[in-house]
This record gives sequence, C-alpha cells and structure tokens, in this order.
Amino acid sequence: MQEVRIGFVGAGGNARGHMARLADVEGASIVAICDIFEDAARAAADEHGATAYTDHHAMLDEVEMDALYVSVPPFAHTDAEILAAEAGLHLFIEKPVVLDMDKGLQILEAIENAGVLSSVGYQLRLLDTSNRIRAWLADRQVAMISSHRWGGLPGTPWWRVMDQSGGQLHEQTTHQLDLVRYMMGAEVVEVYARYDRLTMDDVEGITIPDSQAALMTFDNGAIMTITTSPMMTQGGGKSDINFLLRDQIVGWSPSQVTVTGLAAPELEGEPAETPNIDEVFVEAVRAGDQELIPCSYEDGLRTCDVTLAANESAASGRPVKPRMAP
Ligand SMILES: NC(=O)c1ccc[n+]([C@@H]2O[C@H](COP(=O)([O-])OP(=O)(O)OC[C@H]3O[C@@H](n4cnc5c(N)ncnc54)[C@H](O)[C@@H]3O)[C@@H](O)[C@H]2O)c1
Repeated sequence: MQEVRIGFVGAGGNARGHMARLADVEGASIVAICDIFEDAARAAADEHGATAYTDHHAMLDEVEMDALYVSVPPFAHTDAEILAAEAGLHLFIEKPVVLDMDKGLQILEAIENAGVLSSVGYQLRLLDTSNRIRAWLADRQVAMISSHRWGGLPGTPWWRVMDQSGGQLHEQTTHQLDLVRYMMGAEVVEVYARYDRLTMDDVEGITIPDSQAALMTFDNGAIMTITTSPMMTQGGGKSDINFLLRDQIVGWSPSQVTVTGLAAPELEGEPAETPNIDEVFVEAVRAGDQELIPCSYEDGLRTCDVTLAANESAASGRPVKPRMAP
C-alpha cells in the first residue's frame, strides 16, 4: 500500500482530532507539524513521531510529504496553501477556508493551476441523512428552508473577535449553510443579513454579534432564513435545518430525517455508518481521484463567499450578491 505522508499547519483542538483519526488510517503517516505556538507543535509532534516546526516555510522546504492539512483560525490563512499547491501537495483545509475572498480566490487559482486534490472539512456531507435528503430532493422543488444554530461560546480566544473568526455564521453555522447548498444542489444568489449584540457585552473582548439573521435566495428560487447565536451559557440550544415543500416538511439532523405531512418512505430508517473524513481523503490522495472527496476547495469557498456576503450585507444594510454566485 502506498504510504501517504502528511504535514500539518495548525496543531490546535481540531487538528488534534484529525491527527488522532489519521493515526488509525493504514498507510497514512504524519511527518511534520507546524504551529506558531511551539508547545502545541512539539506536543503533537512527540505524540505522532513527527518533526515540530513553528514556521511553515521551513517545514515545506525541509520535509518531503504528499499532503498538507491546514487547520488554523479563519484570519490566519496566508501562503501555506499556495506554497503547498505549488509544491504539488494535496490539501485538506478546514472550514471556513478564509476570512478574505481575495485570498480565497488566490488559493483556488493556485490549487487549480497545480492540479492538486483539495478537501474542505465539511464532514456533515458524509452523513447518510445528508445524502438521503440530497438524493430525494434531486427532482423536487423546495420552496423554503429554515435553519437555526443556537448554542454556546467556544473557548478559543480568537472566536469572539470579528476580525479573526468572522462571527458565528461564518465560522460555525457555515456547516448548516454548506449542507443546504449540498443537499439542494443550488447556489445562493442574494443575501440580506441583520446582526446585533444585545446580551453578551459581559464577555471580555467580544466583538462578534450575539444575534445574526440572514435571508438568502437560491438560484432554484427557494428562500432560506438562517439564524445563529452563541449566547447560551447553561447548555441547551438548537441546531436544525427544515425544508418546506408542498405538503411536506423535511427535517435534517445528523442521526435522523423527520418528515411531517405526506410520507416519504425513502427518507425513513436507520442511517448507515458515517465514513471517516480523513480516511476518505487519504484514499482519494492514493487514488488521485478528486471525485472521492465530498467538498473541494472551490465548493467550500462558495459556502465561505455566502457568509462573507452576509457580513457585508449586515455592515451595509443592503442585499449582497456573493462574488462567486451564478
Ligand atoms: N470541521 C469541523 O467540524 C471543525 C471543528 C472544529 C474546528 N474547525 C476549524 O478548524 C480551525 C481551527 O480551529 P481549532 O478549534 O483547532 O482552533 P484552535 O485555536 O484550537 O487551534 C488553532 C491553532 O492554529 C495555530 N495557528 C494560528 N496561526 C497559525 C499559523 N499561521 N501557522 C501555524 N499555526 C497557526 C494556533 O496557535 C492554534 O494552535 C478553524 O477554522 C475551525 O473552524 C472545524
């Protein structure tokens, strides 16, 4: 079996999850790990028998590898993806892929010019519930979608800073938007958003809104409302996606599909097991087959484009057409 040698830029909580899963993937080896926080790089490298770096330029110059994971906060994407693509490395990049669309388009160009494989960490696309709804919706007209993500504030310090995370809709609720794009096979052509912060001024250093609502129009005519908030401190919350069709409401969750109204037997039943996204990536690299990967960089950048357009709309008070919209 061909060995797949992997490097990391970023060794925080999410990267450590990928590393742990990769450790169980036959033929995958983590060879180098870079984090600007030296202790984080060293601890992860010691655990995985890799070489630690604090500068990705040095790592990319010195270490032979086949693929690079980039798992840094949204504001911290600089030139790692571009240099890696130019060196022929396949890329796994965490969502949201950038905070600045100019940078995202530059990275996309580098990936396309190099012809390397790309994968974005929208792992909910691999769920059976997502794929059942996607197949079922293929020849049906959705009229409206409503989605909510109401939860708590993640502990990572950059998350509460608008210029670093882009806010919850961009950073976290990007998963719900991405799934709607994926399940419906449609693109957002206009976004109108309103944001506010009414309850969370007690949180030190917070500059993100605590209330975000966006109205989106898709190119198949469907309209969506999406709301998100990190204001819950005592647990609880809500995370859902509901599609409204004539006589049917179809609700997505990771573990089940609910149908209200007319029955839809194709959507019923226990979901199949979810593939490991890291194993899927390693297999795609080995096979040289982009089709095995559920979300390419181009596709992930489209999701990112929509939430950045929402941020622009909330700031300007006007509807915005995403830059990559058809
Ligand atoms: N797919 C998912 O479900 C999922 C889940 C969690 C996080 N994520 C994403 O993963 C990314 C990282 O999140 P996290 O929770 O691991 O954050 P984190 O703060 O725990 O880790 C980020 C790490 O990146 C490092 N870093 C920052 N700039 C760097 C640079 N230029 N070079 C090297 N290292 C750098 C930091 O020192 C830190 O160790 C975010 O984009 C987040 O949205 C995805």
